[in-house]
Amino acid sequence: MARSKIRCIGILTAGGDCPGLNAVIRAVVKSANFSGMDVVGIQDGFRGLVEKNMKVLAPEDVSNILTLGGTILGSSNKDNPFHMPVTVRGKARFRDCASEIPQSLRRLGIQALVILGGNGSMTVAHRLARMGVKIVGVPKTIDNDLEGTDQTFGYDTAVSVASEAIDRLHTVAASHHRVMVVEVMGRNAGWLALGAGMASGGDIILLPELPYDEWKVAETIHDRRKRGKKSSIVVIAEGAHPKGGGVVLDRPNPRSKGRIRLGGVGRELAHHLETKSGIETRSVVLGHIVRGGTPTAFDRKLATLFGVHALELVKDGRFGRMVSLKNQAMDSVPLETAAGKTRIVPKDHEWVLAAKRIGVDFGV
Ligand code: F6P
Repeated sequence: MARSKIRCIGILTAGGDCPGLNAVIRAVVKSANFSGMDVVGIQDGFRGLVEKNMKVLAPEDVSNILTLGGTILGSSNKDNPFHMPVTVRGKARFRDCASEIPQSLRRLGIQALVILGGNGSMTVAHRLARMGVKIVGVPKTIDNDLEGTDQTFGYDTAVSVASEAIDRLHTVAASHHRVMVVEVMGRNAGWLALGAGMASGGDIILLPELPYDEWKVAETIHDRRKRGKKSSIVVIAEGAHPKGGGVVLDRPNPRSKGRIRLGGVGRELAHHLETKSGIETRSVVLGHIVRGGTPTAFDRKLATLFGVHALELVKDGRFGRMVSLKNQAMDSVPLETAAGKTRIVPKDHEWVLAAKRIGVDFGV
């Protein structure tokens, strides 16, 4: 295949941070260096692209960042160049800044972009690609909810951290004969709750994909008591909701159009369960804890493979694509495969079926 004549690429991290971002940046910079390409690090996601806040990344800049959580470039999940929050005469406004991007990249000598992001960022990437910007996407999120890839980097770490936290809550619950409700992130997909719940022996797992019945959950807790199990662990996804009910919102995100902030369903459920069952029920929100810190070995490896493969796509001139993991191997899909879509847990997914077979209750 004819190789592209790309000599300089930009890289940015968009959306919520996630373990493994630095490992991808490192892989891209190192492999670009081997190919004689320059990499420009764009600060704070799409905002840095619009405001031209960037600096060249040398291999020394990515030394010792493989195990570092977060992103050395900074990120933002509020800044969409097509609807950019700006302040005009002291007032909050939105502006479409996207049309300026192709020309400003040309002026800066940046010939292609590698964008690390979730489904929202892939939507922006796809729109920019349609305007002629050469883009390769890399799927990032602890939610694991991107279409087109078997797994995103960051998910494995989030599952591990959540599982360790739940392991600790088991001993608290057992000592006090309590029910502990543990709320985990994941937006409208239950992958994180399901993965962590299974890995840590959760007794009841509640997912957005399977609206639950509070009475059924209370009954399961009672049945367990009758069998001598005095404590129970309920793992609930932040986007889970009772049958016929809606999601629980923390509060709206004022600087981000249409982006709601989930949170609080665990507390609400704990309160209802205590009332219904008469058993002391407490709630814990793991929140951003599962998003921070050192990535697992799996995520470091996956992130490195993704970074190297992204650079291969750049060299081969295969733009408008997102790298992906398919059957344990590197692959890629068109950006539009992931843009604006959410990969949710199928009701009959093998993890759900396996969990049911060992007695996990999904409250349905
Ligand atoms: O998409 C990743 C994620 O952590 C979700 O699981 C969560 O709903 C959201 O981001 C939280 O975003 P923020 O950091 O803006 O509160």
